[in-house]
Amino acid sequence: MKISTNALLLIKSLIHLASLCTFLYLWYLIDQDLLGADPVKDMIHFLGKTGLNYLLLTLTITPLAKRFRQPLLMRTRRLLGLYCFFWTCLHLTTFLWLELNWEFSLFIDEVIKRPYLSLGAVTWVILLLLSITSITALKKKMKKAWFTLHRFVYLAVLLATIHYYWAVKSGLTEPIIYFIICLLLLSTRRSYFKSLLLSFKKR
Ligand code: HEM
Repeated sequence: MKISTNALLLIKSLIHLASLCTFLYLWYLIDQDLLGADPVKDMIHFLGKTGLNYLLLTLTITPLAKRFRQPLLMRTRRLLGLYCFFWTCLHLTTFLWLELNWEFSLFIDEVIKRPYLSLGAVTWVILLLLSITSITALKKKMKKAWFTLHRFVYLAVLLATIHYYWAVKSGLTEPIIYFIICLLLLSTRRSYFKSLLLSFKKR
C-alpha cells in the first residue's frame, strides 16, 4: 500500500513535533540546571549529536523509500535536511557565543589549528550550500548542477562522523557505531560511487 498525501502530511507534522520536543527538552535541561558540570560543553554535544542524527535520518529516507516502494516518502528529505542544518547552526552558535565569546579571530585560529574543527567547519559549509539550494526555484535554475551539488551530502555525513569521532576524548563505542551506520548508508549508494570512479578513470 502506498502512503497518501495525508499520511505524508502526518509524517511531516511528526518531524516538526519531534524537533519541537527536542528543543523544549534542551530548554528544560538548561532551565532546571540538569546539564553536567560543564553545561556549555553538554549543550554543544547535545546539539552536535542531534544535527548528526537528523543527517543520518535524512540519508535513511532514500533506501527506505526504494525498499518499500514509497516515492512520496522522498518528500520528507528536505525537511529533515533543513532541521539538520538548524541544529548544526545552534551547535556552531553555542560554540561561538558561550565558548569563544564571539571572538571570530580566535574561532578562525581554532578551526585552522584543530583538524576536528576544520572537518566540522567544512561539513557545516556543505550543509549551508545544500540548505540554500533546497529552494525549489534554485533547484529548477541549477538543473544538473543541483544533483551534483547535493551528492556532497555523502561527503558531509562522512566528515561529520569523523568530526564526532575526533571530538570525543573517551568512550569511543558510540562514535564507532555512528561511523558504521554512516558506512552502511553510504553502501546503499555504491552504484553511484562505482559510476563516479569509472568516470574518473575514463578521464
Ligand atoms: C564550524 C562548524 C563546527 C564547529 C565549530 C563544531 C565544534 C564542535 C565542538 C567544539 C565540539 C565539542 C568538542 C569537545 O567536547 O571538546 C563538537 C562536537 C561534536 N560536533 Fe561539532 N562543530 C561543527 C560542526 C558540526 C557539524 C556540521 C556536525 C554534524 C552534522 C557536528 C557534530 C558534532 C558531534 C556529533 C559532536 C560530538 C558530540 C558528543 O560528544 O556527544 N559538528 N563540535
